[in-house]
Amino acid sequence: MTPNRAAIADLFPSKLPDGCVFRPGLLDLSCQKALLAAVREVETTAPTARVLTKTGGYTSAAITNCGQAGWWSDAKGYRYETMNPLTHQPWPALPDVFRKAVADAVRGTPWSGFTPDACLINFYEPGAKMGLHQDKDERDFSQPIVTVCLGDDAEFMIGGLKRNEKTDVIIVRSGDVLIMGGQSRLRFHGVRKIYPGTGSLPLVIGRYGLTFRKAL
Ligand code: FE2
Repeated sequence: MTPNRAAIADLFPSKLPDGCVFRPGLLDLSCQKALLAAVREVETTAPTARVLTKTGGYTSAAITNCGQAGWWSDAKGYRYETMNPLTHQPWPALPDVFRKAVADAVRGTPWSGFTPDACLINFYEPGAKMGLHQDKDERDFSQPIVTVCLGDDAEFMIGGLKRNEKTDVIIVRSGDVLIMGGQSRLRFHGVRKIYPGTGSLPLVIGRYGLTFRKAL
């Protein structure tokens, strides 16, 4: 069971740093279900996979992509690829429901014109996590990263611009949106813990993070 927000008051920052916009519960259940159906469709042609990291291990989250380019990692390093290195096919197009969710997510924010060309889908099964890292393989850091959460609750870490700075932790839930832009675009971040079985979506044990980028 996820600790309630009061019980984790020490973890839950009262104020997020400039450039971080957290929109809890923005996407309703019917939207989440439509997003999940689209994710499943993407997975049929671009299956999720754990990929090799710079440190020589494999990611504990399994990844796939859709859009014009997909983020990838293997012995050649971190980069965007316009073709899926596993299937040698182009990535599936960004589903319309993804574009619509992003438009809702950025409405009223400083990035209301944001139009992603890539979505990295991270799937965290129970026990999976992602260490602190920066998203810096994109060309234009004036464009934000927009994350849509689906499935189980998770502890999301937001750090500073250096790896060793203090991190805050927020609980992210299915339907929540987190935007990192402006002064927070290059903050270190990661996923510390998944709470299995806590999500509002049936048929998902684990968490999907749909992370929208302007990569090219
Ligand atoms: Fe990231």
